[in-house]
Amino acid sequence: MARRASFYVRYYAHMKKLRDIPHLEGVPVLVRAALNVPVAHGIVTNTFRLRSALPTIEYLREHRAKVILIGHIGDTGTETLLPVFEAMKEYIPDIRFCDAVTGTKVRQAVRELNPGDVLMLENLRRDTGEKKNDHAFALSLASIADVFVQDSFDVCHRSHASVIGIPAFLKSYAGLELELEINELAKARNPKHPALAIIGGAKFSTKEPVLHALIKKYDIVFVGGALANDFMKAKGQSVGTSLVSSTDSSTLSELTESKKIMLPKDYIVGPVGSERSTEHHGPVTAVLSNEAILDAGPVTSLELAQLVAQARIILWNGPLGNYEKGFTDATEGLARAIASSSAYSIVGGGDTIAAIEKLGLGDRISFISTGGGAMLDFLATGTLPGIEALR
Ligand code: 3PG
Repeated sequence: MARRASFYVRYYAHMKKLRDIPHLEGVPVLVRAALNVPVAHGIVTNTFRLRSALPTIEYLREHRAKVILIGHIGDTGTETLLPVFEAMKEYIPDIRFCDAVTGTKVRQAVRELNPGDVLMLENLRRDTGEKKNDHAFALSLASIADVFVQDSFDVCHRSHASVIGIPAFLKSYAGLELELEINELAKARNPKHPALAIIGGAKFSTKEPVLHALIKKYDIVFVGGALANDFMKAKGQSVGTSLVSSTDSSTLSELTESKKIMLPKDYIVGPVGSERSTEHHGPVTAVLSNEAILDAGPVTSLELAQLVAQARIILWNGPLGNYEKGFTDATEGLARAIASSSAYSIVGGGDTIAAIEKLGLGDRISFISTGGGAMLDFLATGTLPGIEALR
């Protein structure tokens, strides 16, 4: 165990960090931050990622740098970061906004910055060069600053211009949040025993690599949410009209045969588009062909609570039911159980964080990751393209 921990210390020793920047007074610093937050009706509904970006921004302000915040929101590039800018005003009242990503407007806005000022640029994905890691786009972003700080762990699994392109042109450093994520998730890759991992949500293909990694290191890997439907289907059990991935069940065989994988024992099921009044609870074998699985049932919740109470480390990513549609009981029950356990707990994923924050349990979790896919990829491989770009 000690040998593995020292591997991480050596591996990341070559990554320059925020505190290694020799001179900051009056220096324009480009900071890639996790600004991709949920927005409803023009209002940010969860500020967890924004709050996580603050320590790096505050450090740079205290050292009198000129801070230029860049980030993305949404997938397609049609969305604006304006609601994020408005939400950020709560923490940085004098923050400024420029409604462009590159060009004259941006250069002018950067010229007007005084030491300690903070400027946010528009959604990077407005420019198609971001996702393509276009050389000229990365260069034009790099040209407005003297130093680059990568603090957007959530996007470090993407080979985009603001992740792997800019470090080719600018001296680049890991921000405080990125450094924290690496240190904390390294602990989850080398768990103390008994070690319990809980992976829920959907999209089997994005979670398959982490499941393979976890069954090698954890004592129990509990699979919940829509992911569990794929396992049931692969075992020939009925899942009715439940959400399943288009996965070929042969790729699941190693996982379904693993004695470490645990699946829910019972479910809340109901007709498609079910409201709470029409659902019922039953064992996994009793899902009818016209029913969908909506949440894990009470027997499963009890069993999970017992496993949580025995574990020394708990890793959790992804809800146990259709959380967005209001089937929140099993997920929130698990959040409460983890919050009251004495285990070291590491949690990530949008709905998972939403449940924890809704219940006000954030300060009873040892570490909450800002990453969704990035957290899973880091756990699977121990690094990410955005981290490698800093080494
Ligand atoms: C996330 O929310 O997982 C990250 O911000 C990455 O966003 P993306 O999946 O749109 O690349």
